[in-house]
Amino acid sequence: MATFKIDGREIEIRDGQSVLEHSLDAGIEIPHFCWHKTLGFDGNCRMCMCEVEGMPGVQIACGMQPSDGMEVSTQETSETAREAQEGVLEMLLINHPLDCTICDQAGECPLQENTHKYGPAASRFEESKLTKPKKEDWGEHIIFDAERCILCTRCTRFMSDVRDDDVIGISGMGDKSTLTLGAAGELKDDYQLNVVDLCPVGALTSKHTRFHERVWFMDFAETVCPGCSTGCSVTAGAFQGELRRMKPREVGLAGHGPVGPWMCDTGRLDIDRWNSADRLSEPTVGGEAVSWDDAVQAAADIASKPGAIGVATTMATCEELGAFAACFPSPEGPRTARSGATDKADGFLLTADRTMNARGADAAGIGPRVKAFGEGVETLFILGDDPVEVPDTVTSMVVMATAPTDLTRRAQVVLPWATPFEKTGHVENKDGVRQSLSMLLQPRHAGPAADVVLRRIAALVPQPEPEEAEA
Ligand code: SF4
Ligand code: FES
Repeated sequence: MATFKIDGREIEIRDGQSVLEHSLDAGIEIPHFCWHKTLGFDGNCRMCMCEVEGMPGVQIACGMQPSDGMEVSTQETSETAREAQEGVLEMLLINHPLDCTICDQAGECPLQENTHKYGPAASRFEESKLTKPKKEDWGEHIIFDAERCILCTRCTRFMSDVRDDDVIGISGMGDKSTLTLGAAGELKDDYQLNVVDLCPVGALTSKHTRFHERVWFMDFAETVCPGCSTGCSVTAGAFQGELRRMKPREVGLAGHGPVGPWMCDTGRLDIDRWNSADRLSEPTVGGEAVSWDDAVQAAADIASKPGAIGVATTMATCEELGAFAACFPSPEGPRTARSGATDKADGFLLTADRTMNARGADAAGIGPRVKAFGEGVETLFILGDDPVEVPDTVTSMVVMATAPTDLTRRAQVVLPWATPFEKTGHVENKDGVRQSLSMLLQPRHAGPAADVVLRRIAALVPQPEPEEAEA
């Protein structure tokens, strides 16, 4: 077994991985800017310099493969490495605006953090800083501040390597170098906001979140983007009880191969629908507010009617869908159907199924997708906010939804429901990857979780007699 040492710690060598990757996996910090887990090595920032026994000077950890017996010293054990890194930071800060107090990236800025940990205590720079364009409009979503850019090329590599679009380039020489956009003069790609996440400084900011709130005042939860059946793993952020942003998590999707920790702008920006002020806040029967016990009984009475059909959105969690299916026991096969939005797939991450848990509906035995019912249906129980065409023959209806709709206004029993950011549970993406939803926000209604409510309803619905089942 080939091994090498970082700061005296012996580490087994894995083929194809750099010293930096070995060290990060082992929990040993080496500061870096241009290297990225998915974009890989570029070697331009020189922040990751380490000392290697038997080699002159310092070496970049991101561009060096370990060999058997190699001994690497990081900034923690090597004065030479520490001085080299301090020099890199001093050089980067020469022309970088010292405007952390107003910079949108403050609080989550690797340059700020590395300067605090490894940078020089004072600047020796006495000349005037170079000025470059500020607040350049890069199109629908992004503002570029050239002065803050440290030219790590993460954004250019994302667009060229991941999106096959050389739209971002570098022009100029030396300290006049800056990013330029191609002939289009703007970013048009539906994955462009990933470059804001990738930028290790505040040079690229999202028009949708910049200067809205300080990151340290936000609450965060690791959860799943509900925008389509890819189910990108995200960190969702909220401020004062409102969902404000989603960012892809670097872990990406387990078993998802080289897709990378990205997400589409369509899903990322579709957050307003979860912040609606117009929400259902209490259970009602016949338009009157009632206790949950009474609402559960009324819903069970309707679900027990002969011929009652359940329609569940595939936005629901596995737990909710399993409990919902149990409300419609039937020996003749499912008395359930599913609903959910569809749209065009983009061939990368965004799928045609714009819901997050169709596989969960499969597992629960929920029937196929419907948009409308024929005449003759008299009783429906609808879970979710999807528009479902309900024929005039329907005289009894339960709707569990997040917000008032034409369907809730028509239903005899209405049960408030939590959004994907207001509950815990599991969803299964199109590839069968099961992930957890975390509760970022409090539900807008008091009462039990939806899966508990649905299980209580199911317990009140008569089960088919064995002889009926055989008939
Ligand atoms: Fe790097 Fe940000 Fe500059 Fe792009 S804008 S090169 S990501 S520092
Ligand atoms: Fe190693 Fe930039 S991270 S040179």
